[in-house]
Amino acid sequence: MNIPTDQDRVLIFDTTLRDGEQSPGATMSHDEKLEIAEMLDDMGVDIIEAGFPIASEGDFEAVKEIAERSKEAVICGLARANYKDIDRCWDAVKHAERPRIHTFIGTSPLHRDIPGLSKDEMADLIHDTVSHARNLCDNVQWSPMDATRTEHDYLCRVIEIAIKAGATTINIPDTVGYTAPRESADLIRMLIEKVPGADEVVFATHCHNDLGMATANSLAAVEAGARQIESTINGLGERAGNTALEEVVMALKVRNDIMPYQTRIDTTKIMQTSRRVAQVSGFAVQYNKAIVGKNAFAHESGIHQDGMLKNAETFEIMRPEDIGLASSQLPLGKHSGRAALRDKLNGLGLEVGDNQLKDIFVRFKSLADRKKEVYDDDIIALVADTAGDK
Ligand code: KIV
Ligand code: ZN
Repeated sequence: MNIPTDQDRVLIFDTTLRDGEQSPGATMSHDEKLEIAEMLDDMGVDIIEAGFPIASEGDFEAVKEIAERSKEAVICGLARANYKDIDRCWDAVKHAERPRIHTFIGTSPLHRDIPGLSKDEMADLIHDTVSHARNLCDNVQWSPMDATRTEHDYLCRVIEIAIKAGATTINIPDTVGYTAPRESADLIRMLIEKVPGADEVVFATHCHNDLGMATANSLAAVEAGARQIESTINGLGERAGNTALEEVVMALKVRNDIMPYQTRIDTTKIMQTSRRVAQVSGFAVQYNKAIVGKNAFAHESGIHQDGMLKNAETFEIMRPEDIGLASSQLPLGKHSGRAALRDKLNGLGLEVGDNQLKDIFVRFKSLADRKKEVYDDDIIALVADTAGDK
C-alpha cells in the first residue's frame, strides 16, 4: 500500500477527520467520525487520516475505534515531532489492519523560529523522530510543514534524512495555500530528481486553498510525479480549506485524456458523503461549489435548458449519476424558456394545448419576475387558473 505498483495510480488520502475537523466550528462527535470513516472506506479512499490522537482523549478514542473497524483503507494518525506524540499515535492506529504514523515539523524559517531550533538541531530531531516512528510502524509518513516556503536546499536535506530514517511517504504541504500550479509542479519535480532515495518513497501533495488554487496545485504536483493527493470532502479545512477530494477525483476522471491517472474512488458515493459531511460538520456547501454544490447540475436559463433537453452534453461535462445524483435539475425561473416549461408540465403529468401553454407561459414569466424560483405547486396553480379561463 505504500508505493503504488502502477505508476498511473494516484492514492487518495482523506484528512476530513483531522485537517477538516480543524476548521473552527467543525467538530464532529465520536459516532459521527466513525460514520464518516466508514463512508470514506466504502468509497475507496486509500488512506484515512482519522485524527490527532494526542490532541484529546476523544480524538484518541475515535482514531482507535476507526482503526479497529477499518476495512480496506490505511488508517493514519497525526503526531508532532516528539516521542510522546508518536507513541500516542501508534497506540491508537496500531489496531488497524494497515496502520500509518504521520509525523511532521515546520521546516520554513518562520516555523523553525517557533521552537527556536537551528537547522542542524531540527535535522537531528527529524532523524530521531522518524526513526522512532519507523521502529513502531512500517508505514511512516513525514511532512515538512510549510514546505512551499522552505529553502530548497534545506528541504532536500531534511527529506533525505527522513527517507534514510525510514519514512515511506514524503508529504509536501502547502500549509498556507501560497504556491501556484507551475511552482507546485517544479517543486515536486526538483525533489524527486535531487533527493537521494526519492524513488523509494511516495511523494504526496497537501494543499490549502487560501488563493483558491488547491485543486490546480494538487493536480500539477501529480503531473510532476506526486502519487498521493491529500484532500477533504467538500474542501473542509482550516481557513479557506483543503483540496476538495471530489474536485481532484472528478478532474482526473473527466480529463483522463490529458491527466491519465487512476484513483480507486467509487465516484457514485461522492454526493452522499458530501451531504453527510456537511450535516455533521455544520458547514453547508456553497450553491455553486464544483461537483457537489446544489447548482452544479442545475440549469435555469432558457438556452441552457433547451440544450440540456436536446443533449445533456451541451452544458454538462460529467453525468450526475457519476457522482451519485439521480438527475440534473432544470429549475424554473425568469430566465427559463418554453421548452423547460413544457418539460416540467410533462413531468407533472399535466397535458395542455398550445394556446393554454402560451397563456401559462406569459403568467409564468410574470410570476418568475416576482419570485426567485417557481415551484411545482406554482405551475400546478397556473395550469388550474388558465384552465378556468377557457
Ligand atoms: O497543512 C499542513 O501543513 C498540515 C500538516 C500537519 C501536514 O496539515
Ligand atoms: Zn493542512
